[in-house]
Amino acid sequence: MSKNEEIGKAFDFGLFKRVFAHTKPYRSIFWVVALVAILSAAFAILTPILVKYIIDEPLTNRDSEQLLLVVLIMLGVLVAQVVSQLLFNYYANLLGESVIKDIRVQLFKRIMGFKMTYFDNSSIGVLVTRAVADMQRIGEIFSQGFFVIVADVLKMLCAAGVMLYMNWRMALIVFAILPVILVATRLFQQAMKVAFIDVRAQVANLNSFVQERIAGMKIVQLFNREQIEKEKFRKINEKHQNAWLRTVWYNSIFFPIAEISNSVGVGLVVYFGIIQNIDSASLDSNKGSIIAFFFLMDLLFRPLRQIADKFNTLQMGMVAANRVFGILDTDSKIPDTGQLERKDVKGDITFTDVRFGYLEDEEVLHGISFKVDAGETVAIVGATGAGKSTIINLLNRFYEINSGTIMIDGHDIKEYTLRSLRSHIAIVLQDVFLFADSIANNISLRDKSVSLEQIESAAKQIGVHEFISSLPEGYLYNVKERGTMLSSGQRQLIAFLRAYVSNPSILILDEATSSVDTYSEQLIQQATDKITEGRTSIIIAHRLATIKKADKIIVMDAGNIVEIGNHQELLKKGGYYSDLYEAQFMAEEVV
Ligand SMILES: Nc1ncnc2c1ncn2[C@@H]1O[C@H](COP(=O)(O)OP(=O)(O)OP(=O)(O)O)[C@@H](O)[C@H]1O
Ligand SMILES: [Mg+2]
Repeated sequence: MSKNEEIGKAFDFGLFKRVFAHTKPYRSIFWVVALVAILSAAFAILTPILVKYIIDEPLTNRDSEQLLLVVLIMLGVLVAQVVSQLLFNYYANLLGESVIKDIRVQLFKRIMGFKMTYFDNSSIGVLVTRAVADMQRIGEIFSQGFFVIVADVLKMLCAAGVMLYMNWRMALIVFAILPVILVATRLFQQAMKVAFIDVRAQVANLNSFVQERIAGMKIVQLFNREQIEKEKFRKINEKHQNAWLRTVWYNSIFFPIAEISNSVGVGLVVYFGIIQNIDSASLDSNKGSIIAFFFLMDLLFRPLRQIADKFNTLQMGMVAANRVFGILDTDSKIPDTGQLERKDVKGDITFTDVRFGYLEDEEVLHGISFKVDAGETVAIVGATGAGKSTIINLLNRFYEINSGTIMIDGHDIKEYTLRSLRSHIAIVLQDVFLFADSIANNISLRDKSVSLEQIESAAKQIGVHEFISSLPEGYLYNVKERGTMLSSGQRQLIAFLRAYVSNPSILILDEATSSVDTYSEQLIQQATDKITEGRTSIIIAHRLATIKKADKIIVMDAGNIVEIGNHQELLKKGGYYSDLYEAQFMAEEVV
């Protein structure tokens, strides 16, 4: 659905009810907001009534004591109006922020439960927008939409009623101007809506352009693209400016027109008010009403001009709510129906005829069967795209297999609770991900039960303590977003330590294909030996040293296992592995 269609949709009461259901925990705030909305409308109406009274009574009778009294009352009303406005603003925003705080937590929790297929098919930018910008829009339903509309409508109805009561003829004259303002407002709103859609599109363009160039700055500078990028940016920027200026232009036209119709109204009231009253010689008794009408007209026209805007805010909030609820209603979880909770597992792994594809009609693994005994180290080798990383994606149930079975310690992995299953497996992924946090927190993942001493002693055991200590703040060194402050070899070592500290029964390493310097290579090798010790380990191996040491080598090609055996056996066999070995590793071994 395009933005236009979404906005143009008729008001959806089901959705509205669902949004308002979230105010339930904040019932008292809700009623405070409703009450002060009504009060502020009432206080606003009191002022013109008091003005009329002042003119008709104390001013006409030259009664200065009474005048003082009424002026003091007016002052009181003014203060009350300011206070109720203040309370309204505060509590309406409090309500909105409370509601979106709850929905945001729900949303984040939901997103954390989604399976990987969901993320494969979603844009990060869109999900971030849902959790941040769209949430703010939902909050505006409360702070700038619904209650403000209610208060404005109340104000307008009261103003119209008071006008009719004071002088119905003059009231009808004022009402006659209403359609003009309504039509002008409508035209303005429509123009603004289109202009704002354009502005938003331009902002999105600007955002993604800047974001992408900053992320890809190395490519920009490496290939001398600065001039071209600058030119592109200038054009995008210009479009953004034009879109903004258009909204400014509409504003510049509309508000004077609205002011003029207001003044025309005032003129008409003065003119007809006097003409009407001259003959009846009762101008005196109508003086107060005429002046009060100026105030009342403002109370009628001002909200009218803005009400369409508020409706727009409301509508935008509903569109945002619809999108957010769309995610909340998405059922994209790995079914966690298993009951088995194991404190310890030995680490026997069996794959039996496992078939799997990321996309429905594209099988990636074509019936994989192998067995890993507890405590063994198994290397998986094969060409790029053969399906090696895919195997480990399946073991911890990031994805559901199409057919076949995967067992750990003789139990189908579906029998385990997801929590229990994953607690026994640690994985070092091919692309190491580090959070913008200290090294220590990246290792413990903020698990309070893991102390700094434990981390240090683990680091000493796998031989990376020296390297971490050499960093500016050691274990407290902040590695920044995605660990940009470290080299890829260093990132890998941190990931090793993270896996080691979690002390899993099953360890999976997806070795990075990128080559690292000899020193890091040594560190990595040493760390690998240590962390695989005494536990079942599956290593997707690119390093000859790792492969040679493995108890078993699984050779994969295009989603099939073509050979299984140890280094010597497979070399002797002279099949796929020995070809691979000759092509890839001979040179390495000579060195
Ligand atoms: N998330 C995904 N969605 C769709 N297809 C995928 C996804 N991840 C991998 N694939 C496809 O699955 C196949 C196997 O990929 P896999 O990552 O398992 O290869 P690999 O053996 O680990 O390769 P490499 O040695 O390069 O890491 C590839 O053809 C790849 O295009
Ligand atoms: Mg891979």
